[in-house]
Amino acid sequence: MQLLTDKVAIVTGGASGIGLATVELFVEAGARVVIADVNVDQGMAVAEKIGASAVFKQTDVSSADQVRSLVEFAVTQFGGLNIMFNNAGISGAIHSRFLEDDLQDFDRVIAVNLFGVMIGSQCAGRHMAKNGGGSIINTSSIAAITPGLPLISYRAAKAGVIHFTKSIARDLGEYGIRVNCIAPGHIPAGMTFYDMSERIRVAQPLQRQGMPVDVAKAALYLASDLSAQVTGVILPVDGGTHLGGPIRVRK
Ligand SMILES: NC(=O)c1ccc[n+]([C@@H]2O[C@H](COP(=O)([O-])OP(=O)(O)OC[C@H]3O[C@@H](n4cnc5c(N)ncnc54)[C@H](O)[C@@H]3O)[C@@H](O)[C@H]2O)c1
Repeated sequence: MQLLTDKVAIVTGGASGIGLATVELFVEAGARVVIADVNVDQGMAVAEKIGASAVFKQTDVSSADQVRSLVEFAVTQFGGLNIMFNNAGISGAIHSRFLEDDLQDFDRVIAVNLFGVMIGSQCAGRHMAKNGGGSIINTSSIAAITPGLPLISYRAAKAGVIHFTKSIARDLGEYGIRVNCIAPGHIPAGMTFYDMSERIRVAQPLQRQGMPVDVAKAALYLASDLSAQVTGVILPVDGGTHLGGPIRVRK
C-alpha cells in the first residue's frame, strides 16, 4: 500500500537504527526522504543505496541555522515538506546513581534531544502552516515515561519532548498540522548498549524483541492519513514496558 505517495519527509538521525528503518519504510510507501544526520559517511551511504527517492543533508539538529537550512533544502530538492520526523538523539553519559552524575553532558543532551525537536518542529511547522498542514513526529523514550536510572539528563529531555509535543499539537491544530510522539523501548540500535534480553525478561510484558522496523511502522502510521484524526498522542513502541513488568503465574 503506497501510504505516502507524493509526500516529502525529513528524518533526522536517519543514518542509523530507528531513523534508518523509517527512511527505508517511508521510501517503500512512496515518499521522497531527506536523511538528516551528523554521521556523513553513513548518511551518504544510505542515500546512495536507496537512489533517487532519498538524499542526505549533513545536519546537527542542535543548530537552529542548520535545521532552517535543512527544511529549505527539502523544499528546494523535492518541492515541499509534509512530514518531519524529529528522531535524532544521543544518550549522554551513563552514571548508575544521580549523586555520582557530574551533569557534564546536560547541555549537549538537552540541545540534541529537546532543542533539536523544538527547532525541527518550528522550522517544519512554519512551512507546513503556509502549505496546507502536515505531520510532525517526535521521538521520546520509554525512559521519559518510567522514572528510573541511569541517564537522568536524557530522561528529563525526553520527558520534555512529551509535554512539548502535546502543547504544540494544540497550537498547530488550526493549520492542519498534527503533532505526535513515539516512545520506543528496548530496540537494538546504535545507542543501545545494555543486555536487552535480560531487560525484556524482567521489564517487558511482551517477550518479543522489538526491532527498528517496529518503530518505523508506528512512524508510518503517524505520518500517513491512517492517523488523520490523531494528534497529541504519545505512542509507546516498547512491548508494554510502560505498563510495568510482566505478571507471571507462579507454578
Ligand atoms: N533504541 C531504543 O531502544 C530507543 C529507546 C528510546 C528512545 N530511542 C530514541 O530513538 C531515537 C533514535 O535512536 P536509535 O535508537 O535509532 O539510535 P542510533 O544511535 O542508531 O541513531 C541515532 C542517530 O542520530 C544521529 N544523531 C546524533 N546526534 C545528532 C545530531 N546532533 N544531529 C543529527 N543527528 C544526530 C546519530 O548519528 C544516529 O544516526 C533517539 O532519539 C533515541 O533517543 C531509542
